[in-house]
Amino acid sequence: MDFRLTDDQQMIQAAAREFAQEVIAPTAHEFDKSGEFPAENIRRAGELGFMGVEVPEAYGGSGLDAISFVLMMEEIAAADAAHSTIISVNNSLYCNGILEHGTEAQKQHFVTPVASGRKIGCYGLTEPQSGSDASNMRTRAVKSADGSHYVITGKKSWITSGPVADFMLLFAMTDPAKGAKGVTAFLVEMDSPGVVRGKTEPKLGIRASATCEIEFQEVKVPGDRVLGREGQGFAIAMGILDAGRIGIAAQAVGIARAAYDASVAYAKERKAFGSPIGSFQMIQQKLADMKCRLDAARLLTLRAAWTKVEAKKNGGRNTTEGSVAKLYASETAMFCAHQAVQIHGGMGYSKEMPLERYFRDAKITEIYEGTSEIQRLVIARQETGLR
Ligand code: CAA
Repeated sequence: MDFRLTDDQQMIQAAAREFAQEVIAPTAHEFDKSGEFPAENIRRAGELGFMGVEVPEAYGGSGLDAISFVLMMEEIAAADAAHSTIISVNNSLYCNGILEHGTEAQKQHFVTPVASGRKIGCYGLTEPQSGSDASNMRTRAVKSADGSHYVITGKKSWITSGPVADFMLLFAMTDPAKGAKGVTAFLVEMDSPGVVRGKTEPKLGIRASATCEIEFQEVKVPGDRVLGREGQGFAIAMGILDAGRIGIAAQAVGIARAAYDASVAYAKERKAFGSPIGSFQMIQQKLADMKCRLDAARLLTLRAAWTKVEAKKNGGRNTTEGSVAKLYASETAMFCAHQAVQIHGGMGYSKEMPLERYFRDAKITEIYEGTSEIQRLVIARQETGLR
């Protein structure tokens, strides 16, 4: 087994590290405080090719692989998780699904401006009454008599980048009697009449990643905006989440790394009872446990990305590997952020340092793109074949 990265992978890792540390990290505290969307930083991330890493250059992206994507994500998240949420959703929940299932015209119109960061994409699956139980959706899409368009009515909630998005990949019921098999995916322009955005949600963490509810009041969508086939929407949504969860795993690795690196530095510098606290066994145990979990989370995330590359080449799915990586990495981010606050004592609890932000940001990785409970359900179902 060869753990070395290719030249392209090393290049994007280095470029993302430089951008993250020089541009994002110095602004992260202010964006966390204000909750403002970091539009200029995201525009610059687009110029650097981070908004469509796996999108071919012909459609405005960087034309790199899933491993490059997770390397970039770890670097951005180590500087600020909120920025990495915006970038992850744009790449994996939005662009990748359209690339896989879209027509040439759909890719040109809906991917090219988003992969280059000129426009922002979002993903509309969750509804007020259905988070984990995703197929229990009430948003309806009714086909016109002549088949030329659909009329969409309903509400989507917790939409990452919803307040600023130009396009949405939306899932709606075209045949409610068929349950999950009655869901269809649509590409919607967010300036269409009848699209109403709710207020930006105030959140515990990833505060600069704008989130809102979006109501669709009889929104007319042309028939050629169906992604894939009618009734294929739920399988498309789940396939996209198989990839999206790898992005969240990489985000969690980034948060865990930031918490770990700060803790090692502090353990060497902070003295108590006449010695650096890093010489005390109770601190050493915390650092050793953080290091083991961080390395394991990173390796699981890279394995998931690698299985995604293989699945793309040879067919097949990376469902289990994506869920294993997301579950383990998100719990690692929470563990490392928790330990980091403890190692820093009062300073860990202070807004003067980023530890409390890592702690607040880490929590979301155990919730979105499928809670830890849903990841365990997916893994167990895949392993046993039982429902
Ligand atoms: N790939 C392709 N098809 C899949 C699939 C996958 N990974 N998973 C399921 N399917 C197919 C199934 O094969 C099945 O089709 P068949 O009957 O033909 O076999 C169909 O989809 C229905 O599957 P299930 O019966 O397993 O569906 P379920 O209702 O039991 O739900 C679930 C399964 C795993 C619980 C699913 O609902 C789920 O993942 N829930 C969590 C939703 C989630 O992650 N939401 C996150 C929202 S996005 C977000 O958070 C974005 C953000 O802002 C960052």
